[in-house]
Amino acid sequence: MPRVLVTRPIPGDALERLRDAGHEVDVREADLPPSPRELRERLTAGEPARGLLAMLTERVDRELLEAAPELRVVANYAVGSDNVDHDACAEHGVAVGVTPDVLTDATADLAFALLLAGARRLVEAAADVRAGRWQTWEPRGWIGRDVHGARLVVVGAGRIGRAVARRAEGFDMDVVLVRSGDDLDAALEGADFVSVHAPLTEATRGLIGAAQLRRMPAHAILVNTARGGVVDQVALRGALVAGEIGGAALDVTDPEPLPPEDPLLEAPNLLVLPHVGSATAGARQAMADRSVDNLLAGLAGDPLPFPA
Ligand code: DGY
Repeated sequence: MPRVLVTRPIPGDALERLRDAGHEVDVREADLPPSPRELRERLTAGEPARGLLAMLTERVDRELLEAAPELRVVANYAVGSDNVDHDACAEHGVAVGVTPDVLTDATADLAFALLLAGARRLVEAAADVRAGRWQTWEPRGWIGRDVHGARLVVVGAGRIGRAVARRAEGFDMDVVLVRSGDDLDAALEGADFVSVHAPLTEATRGLIGAAQLRRMPAHAILVNTARGGVVDQVALRGALVAGEIGGAALDVTDPEPLPPEDPLLEAPNLLVLPHVGSATAGARQAMADRSVDNLLAGLAGDPLPFPA
């Protein structure tokens, strides 16, 4: 029976379809990701795994592929696949699948939640209530920024970027979509809010760096729900501390998890979430379904329905 390794338990019952199709489903029952060594060993122990359902926390690199020559398909439980060495997979004849579309709205909703939270200082205001600092209705307290009428620069015009743009239009925002090749720096100059939706590649690593942060107006709020590496975090900390931008609301960091002692967390006007963009019951179940669709096709030697 061909074995499929699932690196951590996933929501829902999608894995049943693999069992029904006669595959041995080996779910690693753990809350934390495997080390590279554990993953290599687990792939090859006993009946070698032919399928891998991997989280974005696993590196699928050349070393892993060389250690697991029987592997035929990797279903990444994410739409991003920067954790996968695609060239090495192609060389080893390993098909790579992802989970497009089904997390677009959940992630766009979260980007918008971060935008609103940053604009209206939700976290700070709620913390003040709990800490007993709410003494009266404050004519000058907890003043945020208007979202309606403000300019939102969406960096990356893929599925999620466009979904954020649609939401922004409903909030009467002035939306500027920045596609790859457009003049990002010029767009940033007029931004009240900037939302990052570019995948992490060699070309986009550090795309929002010190120079870009300096282009943004001092009140502008940066939102990132894409990948931490697209923003230069050292530069971001500097910009927040110096008041060069108004705030940042991040769902993604580099590294993840961000250690509690990371200097970024000392910066003012910063909100950080633990990469929960796709964390809704519906999205995670649908991601499981797409992952299983990819595995079933890859194990049958067919083209993947959702290739990376
Ligand atoms: C993805 O699918 O790439 C997301 O970051 C997971 O939440």
